[in-house]
Amino acid sequence: MRKIMKWIGIVLGSLIGLALLAGLVLYPIGLEKLTRSYSDIPIETVDIPTGPAAAARGRHIAIVWECTKCHSENLSGKLFSDDLIMGTIPAANLTSGKGGVAASYTDVDWVRAIRHGVKPNGQVEIYMYDYYSTMSDRDLGDLIAYLQQIPPVDSNYPAMQFGPIVPIATAVGLLTPAAELIDHSAPRPTEPVPGATVEYGKYLSAICFHCHSPNLASKLEKWKQDDFVNAVRAGVLPDGKKFGHAKFLKTFGEMNDTELTALWLYWQSLSPAKPPK
Ligand code: HEC
Ligand code: HEC
Repeated sequence: MRKIMKWIGIVLGSLIGLALLAGLVLYPIGLEKLTRSYSDIPIETVDIPTGPAAAARGRHIAIVWECTKCHSENLSGKLFSDDLIMGTIPAANLTSGKGGVAASYTDVDWVRAIRHGVKPNGQVEIYMYDYYSTMSDRDLGDLIAYLQQIPPVDSNYPAMQFGPIVPIATAVGLLTPAAELIDHSAPRPTEPVPGATVEYGKYLSAICFHCHSPNLASKLEKWKQDDFVNAVRAGVLPDGKKFGHAKFLKTFGEMNDTELTALWLYWQSLSPAKPPK
């Protein structure tokens, strides 16, 4: 018995030792990725319209493209995590209030932050989505027009500090800053034309693809358009049961009929069994 205990002790001790050693090696690798500077990437300019119509469209985009999910409904930010494992990570206050970024942000700063995942000082933004690099000039322009006129809200978040897991997760590829995933000098795709078309649905599907794979199309083979609209907008499955999307009602519940029809047509077009009607 004592012998077994001794062996268990040796195995456990070695495992803990190995984990610590791996951590010591991985931590600096991850930290390098998280603090890498992207200050020399080319940033394009986009037209930023003025007027209430653009700002209203921009508000819609801020909701549907999930900005409000992380930066809170009035975009004054929120503490994303604040514990010993993940560390202290605030999602920035995007307003022009105290502690917010808008007062000092130029037009180019907004484009760099949203489309490239890089802060004005060249540092990467942790947790921002890389699919924002696909946002069209018009949508980005309207979004920025909205962000530049949201009411100021003061905030006082603690400074960002990574817990031990964040650099290690980054080193092993579980977490990759958007700035590292984006091809910053890729030519811009052609501007999508809003409408109930497969092409526009394809553009919007970038929002779905950060959680879904093309497999979603085969799940939809027996669905009707109304089932799809209900699932995405209201979080209800064809059998009437609430499911995972019920968590996203404040985001995808905002999608309008044109967007949902376009998305339906696009997802249908991916399904070999059922060509789009
Ligand atoms: C998954 C959560 C998440 C989503 C979605 C998200 N953000 Fe962020 N964003 C963050 C976090 C966290 C930070 C802070 C990152 C850092 O400091 O490294 C941040 C940083 C930023 C910054 C940089 C602030 C600074 O310190 O200079 C801007 C600007 C920004 N977000 C705008 C947006 C906009 C606009 C959208 C929607 C198109 C959006 N974010 C969507 C989590 C998110
Ligand atoms: C933040 C992650 C996330 C995003 C973004 C997202 N989904 Fe989902 N979606 C889920 C999860 C999780 C489920 C499965 C939920 C469950 O089984 O309870 C799901 C399920 C679904 C279903 C039901 C079919 C199934 O797999 O059971 C449909 C339809 C769907 N999503 C459509 C969409 C569309 C269209 C978009 C883009 C507009 C989208 N989703 C974006 C997370 C997401």
